[in-house]
Amino acid sequence: MSTVMGFSHLLFFYLVLCSMAITLLAHETDDRLALLGFKNGVTSDPSGTLDSWNDTFYFCNWTGVSCSHKHKGRVIAINLSMLGLGGFISPSIANLSFLNSIELSLNEFSGEIPPEFGSLHRLQYLNLSFNALHGIIPVSLANCSQLRFLHLSSNQLNGSIPVALGGTLDKLKVLALSKTSLTGVIPSSIGNLSSLVQLSLMSNNLQGIISEELGRLSNLVRFQVADNSLHGTIPSVLFNISSIEYISVAVNQLHGRLPSSLGNKLSKLTSFRIGGNKFNGIIPVSLSNASLLEMIDFPNNQFSGTVPPIFGGMHGLYSLNLEMNQFQANDARDWSFIDSLMNCSNLQLLSISVNDLGGVLPLSVANLSKEMMVLYMDYNHFSGIIPHGIANLISLNILQLSDNQLTGQVPEHIGKLTMLQSLGLDDNKLTGYIPSSIGNLTLLSSIFLSGNRFEGTIPPTMKALKRLAILSLSSNRLSGRMAGEILGQLFSLFFLDLANNSFSGTIPTEIGSLINLQYLLLNGNGLTGEIPGTISACAVLENLDFQGNLFIGSIPSSLGKLKGLKNLDLSDNSLSGGIPSSFGNFKFLETLRLSNNNLSGSVPKFLQDFKYLYFLDLSYNHFHGELPVKGVFTNSSALVLIGNIELCGGLPQLHLPVCLKSHHKTSRGSLILKIVIPIVSFYRAFSCSYYFLFLVSATRIKNKNKRFHHPCLFHMKSFESHIQ
Ligand SMILES: *[C@@H]1O[C@H](CO)[C@@H](O)[C@H](O)[C@H]1NC(C)=O
Ligand SMILES: *[C@@H]1O[C@H](CO)[C@@H](O)[C@H](O)[C@H]1NC(C)=O
Ligand SMILES: *[C@@H]1O[C@H](CO)[C@@H](O)[C@H](O)[C@H]1NC(C)=O
Ligand SMILES: *[C@@H]1O[C@H](CO)[C@@H](O)[C@H](O)[C@H]1NC(C)=O
Ligand SMILES: *[C@@H]1O[C@H](CO)[C@@H](O)[C@H](O)[C@H]1NC(C)=O
Ligand SMILES: *[C@@H]1O[C@H](CO)[C@@H](O)[C@H](O)[C@H]1NC(C)=O
Ligand SMILES: *[C@@H]1O[C@H](CO)[C@@H](O)[C@H](O)[C@H]1NC(C)=O
Ligand SMILES: *[C@@H]1O[C@H](CO)[C@@H](O)[C@H](O)[C@H]1NC(C)=O
Ligand SMILES: *[C@@H]1O[C@H](CO)[C@@H](O)[C@H](O)[C@H]1NC(C)=O
Ligand SMILES: *[C@@H]1O[C@H](CO)[C@@H](O)[C@H](O)[C@H]1NC(C)=O
Ligand SMILES: *[C@@H]1O[C@H](CO)[C@@H](O)[C@H](O)[C@H]1NC(C)=O
Ligand SMILES: *[C@@H]1O[C@H](CO)[C@@H](O)[C@H](O)[C@H]1NC(C)=O
Repeated sequence: MSTVMGFSHLLFFYLVLCSMAITLLAHETDDRLALLGFKNGVTSDPSGTLDSWNDTFYFCNWTGVSCSHKHKGRVIAINLSMLGLGGFISPSIANLSFLNSIELSLNEFSGEIPPEFGSLHRLQYLNLSFNALHGIIPVSLANCSQLRFLHLSSNQLNGSIPVALGGTLDKLKVLALSKTSLTGVIPSSIGNLSSLVQLSLMSNNLQGIISEELGRLSNLVRFQVADNSLHGTIPSVLFNISSIEYISVAVNQLHGRLPSSLGNKLSKLTSFRIGGNKFNGIIPVSLSNASLLEMIDFPNNQFSGTVPPIFGGMHGLYSLNLEMNQFQANDARDWSFIDSLMNCSNLQLLSISVNDLGGVLPLSVANLSKEMMVLYMDYNHFSGIIPHGIANLISLNILQLSDNQLTGQVPEHIGKLTMLQSLGLDDNKLTGYIPSSIGNLTLLSSIFLSGNRFEGTIPPTMKALKRLAILSLSSNRLSGRMAGEILGQLFSLFFLDLANNSFSGTIPTEIGSLINLQYLLLNGNGLTGEIPGTISACAVLENLDFQGNLFIGSIPSSLGKLKGLKNLDLSDNSLSGGIPSSFGNFKFLETLRLSNNNLSGSVPKFLQDFKYLYFLDLSYNHFHGELPVKGVFTNSSALVLIGNIELCGGLPQLHLPVCLKSHHKTSRGSLILKIVIPIVSFYRAFSCSYYFLFLVSATRIKNKNKRFHHPCLFHMKSFESHIQ
């Protein structure tokens, strides 16, 4: 009996053991199958990572798979980040019911986020960012009530943020949905996510307002909703969240004033970025209480009043951008904010460009941090001199003071700013010589000095500026030769503008060494002699303006080698001869001006075949013979022919005489005069702004048209992305 009992006990025990093993085995089989299901969805695996997912290995040992210690054979984490995996994310993952972490970021998965993920009740971490996923955010994710991290940024999702997420995910710390093409509003239910530390919704198409409810996120550290279409105001409650370190609402359509108590609770705030909105009013003084601020980014709003001198306690401040507002200054007191910045020994970037700052530029600007890299103060109307002490700012990369009323000379000490890459002093009232110490600034890639009263010559030391790409000296009182031994050394030049000065002598043949030159603007000087054929060595020239000089001789036919030429202006000289047949190469020509010379011969037929030619001025020359009838010649407003009394033919609306064997004098001239005069002046006006058009097309322009950056500068930490 006892044996029977013992045996049946044993049997029972055995059966229990067996069924446990089977259950275990069944789970193991399920998880293994689920993983293979996932592998099936992967269609590209450039580094062969999933090759190890085979029968040689136990699946818990497969790359990127982690199993539980407690529950043997149960997969708890998949981590396959940054492996170039493509294909779709198989819903079979949802069968891994012990899974708490899915990390598939930085791959190339496309397809949708499987709604089946909603059944992963243990899931704490889901990172699918930086893939190419489509479709919507499945509302079922609201069922993953253990979720702490949900990171779906940088995908091609659409649809809106599911309201339900706010109802259940009370453990969620990170909700990162930036750059996912989401539409709709920010649901106010997000305010229920009481554990939320980071809310990143940047660069979507979100509309609507920033709800007051978000003020309930009492643990929030990062609030990032830049680059959407949000409107309304920033709710003041947001500034009551004392844990917050980073606020960016930049580039939306928000408006209103900042509350006067703004900074009082923001004792941890380091970044405050609200640029590119319609905020107005003043900067509240209370912002001084946010003394950990490192970045203050307010550009492109409608702020006004004076800039308060509140920065003295912000020892960590490294970037202050107030450009494109309506800040004012009239006297020294209004400029005292500059003094308050003297304590900010980490300050690297300061921009007050495009404001309404007048008065006198304080000399204390030279006492800013030695770390200063970028100083933008252009487009204001302050006066004063460039302080000699500016030489203290030895780390400066960019110094931009253009479009003000500065007087006096450029201090010789500027030669100490050896890190300088861009110097903008154009459109002021500066006088004296261009300091020869400028040649010490060998990293310079752009120099803007145009529109001042500089005199003297181009300093010979400038030949050391091997990186110089832009040299703009136009509209000054510079004189002397166009020194070939200097200019010919500036091999990196792509923009050379010496227009409207008093340069004399011939164009040096060395100009042919400037093989990167795209703009050569010498108009409005007293240059003489013949146009050197060596210019044709500047093979990428697109814009050549020699208008208003004293050039003689014929147009060198070698100019025809400049196949990319778009704008050519040789008018108001004393050139003779005909239009060289080599001009037939200028297939991209947009404007051609040859007026007011002694040119003769016929108008070449090839001009009528130029696709892009929209303006042709041949007036006041001696062209004769029959006019072509196609292309630019069909548009009487694109054509100025006045003062060539021997032209004939052409379209009837040009009112030229019919071509006869022998040329008769015609009285039509006066008629053409009437039509053409206003057109000429229109195009002259246009030609002033075409300098600007060049810049727009050829370059990257920041906030205001003349702000012009060479690619060399792009590595700079810059204000440009107001978005982050
Ligand atoms: C399994 O993967 C390993 C490593 O990639 C490989 O060496 C082995 O040959 C594979 N086994 C099978 C059966 O494919
Ligand atoms: C998994 O790998 C570890 C070490 O790489 C090894 O010790 C273990 O035996 C492997 N387990 C199985 C079941 O293959
Ligand atoms: C995934 O693996 C990488 C590299 O081993 C590691 O740095 C990262 O922390 C892991 N992520 C998760 C969520 O476990
Ligand atoms: C999940 O597992 C069940 C049962 O093994 C199976 O029927 C189902 O097809 C699996 N689901 C997916 C998406 O693979
Ligand atoms: C989510 O939970 C609800 C209610 O608990 C249930 O009806 C629904 O089927 C679940 N969805 C998923 C995908 O698990
Ligand atoms: C998700 O992955 C991205 C890219 O690997 C990483 O930058 C980010 O920190 C991860 N998210 C979380 C919440 O860890
Ligand atoms: C989302 O995109 C898909 C195609 O990718 C489209 O069929 C669907 O209508 C879009 N949904 C929304 C809400 O825009
Ligand atoms: C979530 O927030 C909404 C709106 O703020 C509120 O009406 C709702 O009761 C909240 N739900 C939960 C579950 O807290
Ligand atoms: C901010 O908090 C204070 C008290 O901590 C409260 O008096 C004030 O009303 C709050 N402001 C807003 C806009 O909620
Ligand atoms: C700084 O904050 C304190 C406390 O909230 C406040 O009393 C003080 O007026 C604030 N300072 C300024 C300059 O607003
Ligand atoms: C600079 O900092 C010191 C020490 O924190 C402080 O006493 C002083 O008032 C500050 N200066 C300005 C101009 O705010
Ligand atoms: C410029 O360099 C020359 C030669 O290296 C030096 O003598 C001169 O002092 C420098 N000028 C300035 C302003 O640094």
